[in-house]
Amino acid sequence: MNRPILIGPFKQLLPMSGLPLKGALSDGQLPIINDAGVLLLDGKILEVNTYKKLKSDEVDLERIEGEQVCLPGFIDSHTHICFGGSRARDYALRNSGKTYLEIAKAGGGIWDTVTQTRKASKEMLVKGILTRCEKHLANGITTLEVKSGYGLSLEEELKMLRAIKEADEQATQDLVSTCLAAHMVPKDWDGSPTEYLEEIGEKLFPILKSEKLTNRVDAFIEESAFSPKNIKPYFEKAKQHGFDITVHADQFTTGGSQVAVDFNAISADHLETSTKKEVALLAKSDTIATALPGASLGLGCDFTPARKLLDAGAALAIASDHNPGSGPMGDLLAQAAILGTFEKLSNAEVLAGITFRAAAALNLQDRGVLKKGMRADFVAFATDNYQEITYHQGQLKPSGVWKNGIKTY
Ligand code: NIG
Ligand code: FE
Repeated sequence: MNRPILIGPFKQLLPMSGLPLKGALSDGQLPIINDAGVLLLDGKILEVNTYKKLKSDEVDLERIEGEQVCLPGFIDSHTHICFGGSRARDYALRNSGKTYLEIAKAGGGIWDTVTQTRKASKEMLVKGILTRCEKHLANGITTLEVKSGYGLSLEEELKMLRAIKEADEQATQDLVSTCLAAHMVPKDWDGSPTEYLEEIGEKLFPILKSEKLTNRVDAFIEESAFSPKNIKPYFEKAKQHGFDITVHADQFTTGGSQVAVDFNAISADHLETSTKKEVALLAKSDTIATALPGASLGLGCDFTPARKLLDAGAALAIASDHNPGSGPMGDLLAQAAILGTFEKLSNAEVLAGITFRAAAALNLQDRGVLKKGMRADFVAFATDNYQEITYHQGQLKPSGVWKNGIKTY
């Protein structure tokens, strides 16, 4: 029989437990355990408490040296880290004044990455995902969502989703995959957007189920991609198959968040152009609003109105949107901290957005907080005060990262 392991002492431990899923949070609401330990068995937490209370002859000890702050492992609930090639050219064009949509129309943008991803073998895609996962691990990310969406044909979407599945088997983190075949109408599709979506719904959805490739379906609702009208029958079909729905919504124009709420989507992501109306809609719903500050930094545009969403009562997750086009940076903690300065978010709101609220955006109930029964996924920073973490805007890197109770970094 395995013996429980006690890891600690941590100067401060923020379990992020007992906090509401929705609405504003103040730092005063954050539970903090001083001189704490994490007691775990077989990768699951038995208890978090003071180190003194947990220490006994029945447990093995894993000592923490120096003053460190412990938090739940970070969860990045929106990425596109399965891709081939680079879009440095797009980045330079945008910074010389061309818009994202102009570049897309001229053959750059998402389609450029589709072309480069189609050229890559599945093995090359797996390798790329794993390399990016290593970087995310060093930044404290213990769970990541990864989307397809640069294949845009049956075979190529399958290649991507199989690559994500293989990467999940090899990566330190858990990867949650999402089918984003509705990222844009492929330029080589000889038919209407509706016909493309029908083909995906009829032919791809059953394979996704039979090969257990994903249980999530996403769509980019935007003038340059799919209209709410196009997407409705597609999402109806996805729901019939039992997929969870998530939406790229309100990035350049509004309309997506209404669809998200109508379909009771798990999350509506982006929301940079959401107005009072969309904010109110999301706040009333069970859909998690996900801000993607990395896309705002990559494109040089407004941030998601995170403060307004929280004050209206929405649940706010924060994700990196790590992708080769709009979000090449891929540093969740830096981006979340920066969103905090622009949107005036408390530490509690920033940290909730990348822990338990991000877990909710992926419909995961076993992580995002440190308490009995949860996965022992946690991260430590070499400091005596948790406020230092956002203060350094991503430059204070984790001193340790544990996945299922094992120190992996
Ligand atoms: O979330 N907005 C649509 N999709 C991605 C960008 C994809 C790309 O530019 O390659 C996003 O920002
Ligand atoms: Fe995205």
